[in-house]
Amino acid sequence: MPSGHRLGIVITGGSRGLGFALAKGFLAHGDRVVICARDGARVQDAVRQLRQDIGSADIHGIGFDVRDRGDSARFKAFVLGRLGRVDRWINNAGTAGERQAPLWALDGVDMLETTTTNLFGALTMSSLAVQIMREQPPSKTPVYHIFNMGFSDLGALLSRSPIPHKASKIGVAVVTRSLRAELAAHGMSSIGVHALSPGLVKTDLLRRVTTPDAAGFVEIAAERPEAVAQSLVPKIRHVRGRGSSIRHRSLPVMIARMLFRLSLRGARGLANARRLKPRE
Ligand SMILES: NC(=O)c1ccc[n+]([C@@H]2O[C@H](COP(=O)([O-])OP(=O)(O)OC[C@H]3O[C@@H](n4cnc5c(N)ncnc54)[C@H](OP(=O)(O)O)[C@@H]3O)[C@@H](O)[C@H]2O)c1
Repeated sequence: MPSGHRLGIVITGGSRGLGFALAKGFLAHGDRVVICARDGARVQDAVRQLRQDIGSADIHGIGFDVRDRGDSARFKAFVLGRLGRVDRWINNAGTAGERQAPLWALDGVDMLETTTTNLFGALTMSSLAVQIMREQPPSKTPVYHIFNMGFSDLGALLSRSPIPHKASKIGVAVVTRSLRAELAAHGMSSIGVHALSPGLVKTDLLRRVTTPDAAGFVEIAAERPEAVAQSLVPKIRHVRGRGSSIRHRSLPVMIARMLFRLSLRGARGLANARRLKPRE
């Protein structure tokens, strides 16, 4: 059901997982959305699916690798051709690598893919977003907003993902803070830069790096992409200011929710054990 005015949204890595769910969430508000991902056929499948799910969906997709500097002019032309104006740019494309393993057991190609997708991708795509937004009508307060998914130091400390993932995601957080400062120093008041934290989301990325011993915890702590998108989309649409940290859930709420789900699981286990106990 459309609400408010229609925004122009770019989501990198929107063919599946969280990016796909975010695209669907914005489309449900009547916004106009461009998605990209490396696998062009899968992007077109996602576009078809979104048009089927949301009748009047203004959705467009293109096969594009966020690391491909040589191809960014084509992506820029596609975005401007389909949206005209970009109000929100979400650097969602990312990877935690092919598997969970200590640094010395990781494959170099995998390390390179993880670090370049997360960090170089966030750098080049933030740069492209600013290039587009600075050509749009200016404003004294931020009206165009960029979102990056980086790690805080605490996030990196708590995460069990491989080192290339953690290191590059800390780098992404630096990109967010530093770009905000550079825009302010250059008097570019129309653009805000924000950190986006979805929490643990049940996607391919999480499945790849979940070890068997962590599977039980992940099942309890992680949420469906649709549920996460439902809470993030309104926050992204109504964001204000030069920079903020937008979270799906605050840390205390996340912990309380996990404890509650653990206690539920414990109670169910106890009930099952009682039911199975042979009568004396
Ligand atoms: N899942 C979680 O628990 C979690 C938690 C915190 C933050 N995040 C962040 O949320 C974002 C989305 O993650 P997800 O869990 O939804 O992952 P996902 O299910 O693996 O989806 C990743 C998406 O990014 C695309 N992509 C990957 N590399 C790309 C590249 N070089 N260029 C363009 N597109 C690319 C993928 O399509 P192609 O493979 O076809 O390119 C896919 O559409 C990531 O930045 C991740 O770090 C996730």
